[in-house]
Parts: sequence; structure tokens; C-alpha cells
Amino acid sequence: MSSTQFQDQPFSSSYHAPVMWREVIEIFQDLRGVVVDGTLGGGGHSEALLHSNNHIAILGIDRDDEAIDFASSRLSRFGNRFLPIRSAFSNLIEVLTLPVVQTWMSDKPIVGGLFDLGVSSHQLEAHNRGFSFHARDSLDMRMDTDDTMTALSFLELVGEVELANMFRENGERKFGRFLARKIKIAVAQRQITSAGQLREFISSILPKRMLVGKIDPATKVFQAIRIAVNNELGELDSVLESVPSIFHVGSKVCFISYHSGEDERVKRAFTTWTKGNCRCPAELACVCGAQVIAKTVVRMGRPKDDEMSVNPRSRSAKLRAIEMIDPVTVAVLRGRTQ
Ligand SMILES: C[S@@+](CC[C@H](N)C(=O)[O-])C[C@H]1O[C@@H](n2cnc3c(N)ncnc32)[C@H](O)[C@@H]1O
Repeated sequence: MSSTQFQDQPFSSSYHAPVMWREVIEIFQDLRGVVVDGTLGGGGHSEALLHSNNHIAILGIDRDDEAIDFASSRLSRFGNRFLPIRSAFSNLIEVLTLPVVQTWMSDKPIVGGLFDLGVSSHQLEAHNRGFSFHARDSLDMRMDTDDTMTALSFLELVGEVELANMFRENGERKFGRFLARKIKIAVAQRQITSAGQLREFISSILPKRMLVGKIDPATKVFQAIRIAVNNELGELDSVLESVPSIFHVGSKVCFISYHSGEDERVKRAFTTWTKGNCRCPAELACVCGAQVIAKTVVRMGRPKDDEMSVNPRSRSAKLRAIEMIDPVTVAVLRGRTQ
């Protein structure tokens, strides 16, 4: 990045440029206590929060040890206001019971959660991680390098129909089935063992008209495989399920998504919490006891043009944030008695 970009993006680093950092600062600016950064990455958002609000401490979680190492040294100047833990965010409830975390939190309440989903620029660009198209990268794509399943072993194990469905769900509607069949055969015949070979293979079998344009035709296939290898949607479902038990009244919770499958899940959960999941007929009183437990802070934020121009990776980002409130039954909100 050039020095002008650093002026526009003061919390960017060689590791990653945090997306919508101004909006994130604003969301958490009035809080006092512990904010859980569930996707620490290069620590850009955490640095922005620690720098802008002296009353918060950050519990920084990431399942990638390179992220933990980078962010730990970057944020060491904040001393005891920052605690890094290597874990998947689906384990957040367990992480919060760890003695080291309990001691560090002592009497500080948890007041916020930030989940900036997907991969960091470092993961995408590192030559040994297999997330991108580098010719000699092994087909790896694991965020947690202790996990046993790599992208290559995933492609060996997954069924053709399941793979085709994944490609289709990830936007490869027309060629999903065709790509799945061809890729399964090529992997079984050991024609594909590296990220570069997979990319070339995809280019070689798609019609020529698909190969023009700025976006590499392998992009959606790589993304679908990465999401599956890291169980990204399952991880998101788990952490969304635990939000109401972890974050109490007054806490703010923010998710930044880069993919419609992620954003739809966040939106559905937030709608349930802010509107109540009442299934009673609209013309009758609510008798199901459904409750509203949150209010909307940011319905759907998008990066501003200036940010998208210095950080093109921010283009697909969608930010949603809520504040947890005292539960109110839907019946009361509708002004009816049960
Ligand atoms: C988009 S980057 C976050 C960048 C960060 N906000 C910053 O400012 O540098 C996403 C990070 O979340 C991590 N991650 C993704 N899914 C995770 C999960 N289920 N549990 C823990 N970390 C996860 C990735 O390893 C990656 O480092």
C-alpha cells in the first residue's frame, strides 16, 4: 500500500486493511468493558477500537496462528487491554470459561462482539496457504493449519453431487454440475494437486467466452471450496446461536459479511432478535410468548466510495449491528394483552 492509502486507512497493515473501520469505531464508541474480536486477523479493527476508546479491552480470537502472532506483536503496546486466544469463534462459550480468560476479565463485563467474516488479505496472498491461484501452492486453504482436512483431501472425499450443489449455491449456476464432475475426475487421476493446477484446469474446460473479463472464472469455485474446507457457514451458525447467551443487555454485536450465504444468516438471526419470531396470525393476538431481545443499530451498512477505491476487497462487505435489550414480548409490543 502507498503512503496515501495509509493516511486514508490508518489501521491498515501489511497483513490486512480493516473494512468499515470508521463505522466499527462508531458502533463501539460508548462502551466500557470487554469487546470480543472473534476474527482478530491482523488486528486492524482491534487497534482501531483500542486506540479510539480507552474504556475497552479486547479479547482477540482467531483460529489462524499467523494472525495471532501478527496481531499480538502489533497490539502489545496496549498491554493488559489486549488478550489473544487461538480458537474458532464457534468455541466462544468455552473460551470464556478458560482460567486465563476469566482471570484477565476479572470483573470486566463483556460489552461487545465483532465478527469480520471470511479470510484476511494475508491468508489470500501468502504463498504457502493455498487460498489463491499461485502456481505452486498446495491445495490447502485451511485457516487452522492443525485441521486435518485440506482442500485437496476435501476434493478427494466430497461427492460429485454435493460439490455441484456447493458450486451452484456459490453462484456457479450454469456450470456447477459440469465443473464438479470434471474436477472430481481430475483429482482422482492426480491431474490436480496444486492451487495453480486447479485454476488452469478450470480455465481449460470452461467455454472461451467465460475467460474474458476482470474476474478469474476460478474465483467462485475457489471460494466455494474454501468455505467448505473451513466449515465457514457452520461456524457462523454456531456463533449466532450463542449470541443471546453471551451478550447481555446493552452489549453491541456487529457482523461484517462478504458473501450472500453469510449475510442471509446474520440477517435472519438479527430479524428474529429485533422483531421476535412470532408465528401467530397477524390478525390475532400473539399467544406464543415470542420475545424481542435486541434493537437495530446498523441495519445494513456498506463501505463508502472512498474506502472502496483504496480497498477494493471491501466492495462486497455488508455490516449489520444490534444492541441487546431487556426482553419484551411481542404481545406487549403489539399493544395487546394475552
Ligand atoms: C477478514 S479477516 C479479519 C481481519 C481483521 N478484522 C483485521 O482488522 O485485521 C478474518 C479473520 O477471521 C479468521 N476466522 C475466520 N473464521 C474464523 C472462525 N470460525 N473462528 C476464528 N477465526 C476465524 C480468519 O483466520 C481471519 O484471520
